[in-house]
Amino acid sequence: MSSVLKQSDSPLSLEPLSPVGGAAVRGIDLSQTLSVESKAEIDEAFNTHHLLAFREQRLEEAEQLAFTEQFGELESHVIRLRDGKPAPLLHQITNLDANGNPTAKPYSKGNYYWHTDKSYHAVPSLATLLHAVTLPPSGGDTEFANTRLGYEALPATRKAEIASLRVVHSWEASRKNSGNPPATEEEKRDRPPVTHPLVRTHPVSGHKTLYLGIHTSHIEGMDYDEGRALLAELLEHTTQPQFVYRHCWQPGDLVMWDNRTLLHRACPNYEMGRFPRVLNRTVVRGSVPY
Ligand code: OGA
Ligand code: MN
Repeated sequence: MSSVLKQSDSPLSLEPLSPVGGAAVRGIDLSQTLSVESKAEIDEAFNTHHLLAFREQRLEEAEQLAFTEQFGELESHVIRLRDGKPAPLLHQITNLDANGNPTAKPYSKGNYYWHTDKSYHAVPSLATLLHAVTLPPSGGDTEFANTRLGYEALPATRKAEIASLRVVHSWEASRKNSGNPPATEEEKRDRPPVTHPLVRTHPVSGHKTLYLGIHTSHIEGMDYDEGRALLAELLEHTTQPQFVYRHCWQPGDLVMWDNRTLLHRACPNYEMGRFPRVLNRTVVRGSVPY
């Protein structure tokens, strides 16, 4: 497809988007294979800012897949399409119904709750990439919460109490927590519950983060309700406004975020029954949390 074109020698233009993370990136065309230098710059920016919003891109599906692949293995999704088929590697986040009309009834409600992608997998997602295809005239934002900052702001006693706790995450719990139709038997068989550390160490930076969200069931070895109350308290803590960046989408944005440091949720702040919102999505598989 694309030839190995050397991108411009000038460094990427990075503009921080908020005190808690995120940077807008200009001066690069992601439809071209990245030079070694550009790839290294993007890696470094990603590790520093946790979220990169590449502006003014116009990627074909194959180009987004090719860009994503440069960061690791592409990942599929548990969710089935309306026709029951597995979602393809590039799939769409959309409010369009089967007839292509905008609908206020989302296909999945899970995205509107704080979560980190596929934490119900033994090997959860590293990065998620969304490329704006069609945006509402305003709104349809996505919020991101920095769980490293949330963790660091906890009192020392709390940090000590939670240091070695493990959390059960499951697709079944996720469906229940988000008010979706229950997981099917097939889905439950495919995705049995997994456990992850509540306090996760970022494999690149070594910083500790809180690893939780809508896909959590309970805390291993703790009274069920007590564990859920603790998870709710920590989630509320780390999603306070001082830890949150709200991304207001611009046409051409390709946003890539680090699921190991950030929680995210879609904001229902537009007229969903009236305006289409379509984003092309690819996901990079991560590693076992520790
Ligand atoms: C996702 C997701 C949020 C949004 O793609 O994983 O949660 O704003 N999207 O569409
Ligand atoms: Mn998500």
